[in-house]
Amino acid sequence: MDKIGVGYASVTDIEKRYVMDALDNERLSQGKYVNQFEREFARAHGQKYGVMCNSGTSALHLALETLKEVDGWDEDTEVLVPAITFIATSNACLHAGLKVTFVDVEKETYNMDPADLERRISEHTKCIIPVHTFGMPCNMNAIMAIAKKHGLRVIEDCAEAHFAKVNGVSVGSFGDITCFSTYVAHTITTGVGGVVCTSDRHFMEILRSLVAHGRACTCERCIASDGKTVCPKRMQTDLDRRFCFERIGYSYRVGEIEGALGLAQLERKDEIMGKRHENANYLIQGLEPYEELIQLPRHPENIEHTYMMFPIVIREGTGIRQKDFVLYLEKCNIETRPMLPLLNQPIYQKLFGDLEPQYPNAAYIDHNGFYVGCHHGLNREQLDYLIDCIGKFLEPYRK
Ligand SMILES: Cc1ncc(COP(=O)(O)O)c(C=O)c1O
Repeated sequence: MDKIGVGYASVTDIEKRYVMDALDNERLSQGKYVNQFEREFARAHGQKYGVMCNSGTSALHLALETLKEVDGWDEDTEVLVPAITFIATSNACLHAGLKVTFVDVEKETYNMDPADLERRISEHTKCIIPVHTFGMPCNMNAIMAIAKKHGLRVIEDCAEAHFAKVNGVSVGSFGDITCFSTYVAHTITTGVGGVVCTSDRHFMEILRSLVAHGRACTCERCIASDGKTVCPKRMQTDLDRRFCFERIGYSYRVGEIEGALGLAQLERKDEIMGKRHENANYLIQGLEPYEELIQLPRHPENIEHTYMMFPIVIREGTGIRQKDFVLYLEKCNIETRPMLPLLNQPIYQKLFGDLEPQYPNAAYIDHNGFYVGCHHGLNREQLDYLIDCIGKFLEPYRK
């Protein structure tokens, strides 16, 4: 059996056609593909504006810098981040010179626990970053109610949950600003990349400025200047507004090749999502006999999970060791990954000390969980093999 990997990027004729068109147009910097992808991707997540950038981490950094400027946050400002997420979420806060306060997660969803969230709020707290981990939406009703009660901003980290929904409402539509990664193996991919979305025009203008060195003019005609359309405001000041810088910005832009890939992948969204759902449901059904031993990614009917990964957590009191389980699967040529451990990362232990005892649920998941793939590239034979291998390992532990 070929290796069963956790991630997959499929490139079909549509991606090739759009990328070739971008190359034929001889326009590699931002142009029509980036503009269209930004608009359609934002709309698909209930936001008016999208700004494409070079990574999900950059998207988070831009979002934080924007709110920092608008609200005048100082260096004591604290941002609440779940204790299980990819390290980029909390790193982006540190890049923006802000303080991170971790919040424990729910045992069942692996997402930020609203009860613990409220306990961690201090006088310095200004923002919450809920992360829809592994494709499972957070309890946004509870989180938004807490944000409203305490006057806090919300930046949604949707890197792992493109198109996920709660009661038919898309994730990414709740926060002030929403961030996505389109790195390889994310639900839709542009190779490397990210998108930051908002419905606030002022935020969008700052985001567009920050993504391109802090430039003054952020309108499409200036950014995607193809020589044919000229922005009437461009020469209104002494400096051409494309080369007039109003803030210390970043070089986080992408170009037409990423835009073309993104647009093509967006057109294939239903096909990609459909296959992921089918595969995840097949795995859940196949592993059902072992649910007394392992927790599977089940969810209520009002949730549309996107199964960016397939998390498995060993239940308490089973005597199963995470390491033995993972090594067994790796020997079977099935790739596994840890469940985004954060608090026990060497750099965070150095920065924050031993935090694990304060976050019992995150600590349990770190030491008892892992994930495998359920992506759109897996076929029935591979899924049956995966179920069979997991079953063979678990069989001796069944009562
Ligand atoms: C939850 C989360 N946030 C942020 C990121 C960062 O995205 P990127 O790798 O594109 O910088 C990732 C990446 O996988 C992620 O999973």
